[in-house]
Amino acid sequence: MPRPILATVHLPALRHNLERLQRAAPDSRLWAVVKANAYGHGIERVFEGLRAADGFALLDLAEAERLRALDWRGPILLLEGVFEARDLETCSRLNLWHVVHCEEQIDWLAAHKTHQPHRVFLKMNSGMNRLGFTPAAYRSAWARLNALPQVDEISLITHFSDADGLRFGADGIAYQLEAFTAATRDLPGERSLCNSAATLRHASRGLGSGQLAADWVRGGIALYGSAPDHPGHRSADWELQPTLTLSSRLIAIQELQAGETVGYGSSYTAPHAMRIGIVACGYADGYPRHAPGGQDCGAPVLVRGVRSRLIGRVSMDMLAVDLGPAEAGGQPCRNGDEVVLWGRSRHGAQLPVDEVAQAAGTLAYELLCAVAQRVPFALDEDGNDSRPLTVAN
Ligand SMILES: Cc1ncc(COP(=O)(O)O)c(C=O)c1O
Repeated sequence: MPRPILATVHLPALRHNLERLQRAAPDSRLWAVVKANAYGHGIERVFEGLRAADGFALLDLAEAERLRALDWRGPILLLEGVFEARDLETCSRLNLWHVVHCEEQIDWLAAHKTHQPHRVFLKMNSGMNRLGFTPAAYRSAWARLNALPQVDEISLITHFSDADGLRFGADGIAYQLEAFTAATRDLPGERSLCNSAATLRHASRGLGSGQLAADWVRGGIALYGSAPDHPGHRSADWELQPTLTLSSRLIAIQELQAGETVGYGSSYTAPHAMRIGIVACGYADGYPRHAPGGQDCGAPVLVRGVRSRLIGRVSMDMLAVDLGPAEAGGQPCRNGDEVVLWGRSRHGAQLPVDEVAQAAGTLAYELLCAVAQRVPFALDEDGNDSRPLTVAN
């Protein structure tokens, strides 16, 4: 039998979350953002769940090739555009739309030989200060692109730094929205502004004279079941469902006496006699090594569907959990019992990845993208995933 760790991708949850985002911006088309191998889920695995999207947005040409290999004929957008001139040949061959964020990309387009003019998204740096033309430089970049025979339609795009409202409150997007609106007022072309947080928090409220959601929204993390503004909101507040479950099993049980310690560095000391379970999951599987397992706080886990906590330090291949809550009903845990690190338990309970990320001082984005290659994946196609509840020894 292989090591019992498993990552399960839930297709019904992906479909549900996609519909949820579409409801938040009903007059817009939706890019499903599938960069970083669909936030760690695997492009091929999520494809059926997200194919009702209007297009897919990503970064890598190789990932775009994989989408075309799945016979996706619709729009694909390269969110950072091309990285060198010859990438434009691939754009022509695969009919990829691409962001243009700097003068070099316009130079490359001007020198590109193609029979098929390209659809481009001209990026404004409205305040994030990563990619894009400043509002002052934007119009001349637009005019340069507009004069090129290699360019078909020009769409306008920007990205918000504080749409989650966690830093500036509900108006975290206002100054960027103002900069974008002022600099593009009389420019033609479709607009794309919102990521998940802006779509859920702002798009339906009609900020910016109702233009905020605009023609295209770009949904990423919310598709994958995480609240983009956690802990301001929980995933359940936005009616999002977990799309990836990381689960494993108990492979050993230890009976501790008061004063005994657990794991490397002996960072946890049993305050009283207690039973702990050893789980086949460690940082080499992508579980965060810095998740807390100290005396006062432990990262949440589900043991047999009952919420419990991490104990001691996470090691490469194993971690320890408190069995107390799961055994409170009187039924002792056994080797083979299910442990859910995040996602859905077969016993019915859920543990949002956001809560584990928060405990470990990071974000769901990082945990989802970090699931290691050695972890086998399963696909839950209809909501009835077939993982057994317990594996007998
Ligand atoms: C330009 C752009 N648009 C949209 C997204 C999707 O963001 P989120 O996953 O927060 O919805 C990203 C992700 O970083 C991005 O870089």
